[in-house]
Amino acid sequence: MWRAYRDGWSNVAACALLACLLLAPLALRADVLIRFSHVVARDTPKGLAVERFKRLVEQRSGGRIRVTVYPAARLYNDLDEMEALRLGAVEMLAPSLSKFGPIGFPEFELFDLPFLFERITDVHRITQGDVGRRLLASLSRQGLVGLGFFDNGFKQMSANRPLRAPADFQGLRMRVQASRVIAAQFRALGARPVVLAFSETRHALAAGVVDGTENPVSNFWTQRMNEVQTDLSLTQHAYLGYAVVANQRFWDSLLPADRAVVTQAMQEALAYGNAIADAENERALQDLRAAGTTRIHVLSPAQRAELRATVQPVYDQLSTRIGAQWIRDVQQTLSR
Ligand code: LMR
Repeated sequence: MWRAYRDGWSNVAACALLACLLLAPLALRADVLIRFSHVVARDTPKGLAVERFKRLVEQRSGGRIRVTVYPAARLYNDLDEMEALRLGAVEMLAPSLSKFGPIGFPEFELFDLPFLFERITDVHRITQGDVGRRLLASLSRQGLVGLGFFDNGFKQMSANRPLRAPADFQGLRMRVQASRVIAAQFRALGARPVVLAFSETRHALAAGVVDGTENPVSNFWTQRMNEVQTDLSLTQHAYLGYAVVANQRFWDSLLPADRAVVTQAMQEALAYGNAIADAENERALQDLRAAGTTRIHVLSPAQRAELRATVQPVYDQLSTRIGAQWIRDVQQTLSR
């Protein structure tokens, strides 16, 4: 009796094991994990947009597609996140457009050109138009899939002195992202650019390794830079935005239906990010004013015009690096 019972169960177990082995590939393919790494706080335009993407994808896939978000450079920082994506250690990133130059996409540094955009709608005419589409498509040459652009906002200058005129920048060591355009911008102002990872910036300011930097207010505030910078000057001198990129092998491995869910969720999350970015930066500015830690300087049109004239040579200096045609395409689009 026991032998028959035992033999019966062993047959069930064998079938179950066989079924698992046969179905495992489908079961494994059905459970998709997207590891999404970024370097800013959750309560920033990027952090909130990525969380929205996570919620939409997990809801619409019934949990079969899971997104694990690693904010604030907890997994990878500026200097290694792109390598991690290429190696497949993460599936998605949303780096600043300023960080694509060093990995072979110097044309993305066009977004760093100072005073190129007067308002965010100018940016959208690029990111949501033909130039943006071509830029995203170019990412495939390095095994990246460009899924879309979204905003943070315009950058302001900070230091332990007001920065309203070119003379104010003389000799300052300014933390920058790894962008030749941003470095040239600060050299034109008589300052010394110092490339540092975003996650190291506050510490470097506190330690006096650098004297100042540039950020949208949401990054300045959420990194608590107000505790180590006495002056924020509202220069509105250049734009900071992002491109969401996926690992090509991961993207190709998705079932078509899953790829459609991810694509749609991403488009809605990017639209959400754009819709909240301005308000998030405004809220950060109000919080900063209320904190009373940092003097906030509004520049006059004449002061902004003087800064603009001082950094104008950057366009010619970096035209070859970015690609003169890219700059012409952007300027033609903006002039229409
Ligand atoms: C920076 O490094 O200043 C920004 O790119 C950080 C970010 O992702 O907003």
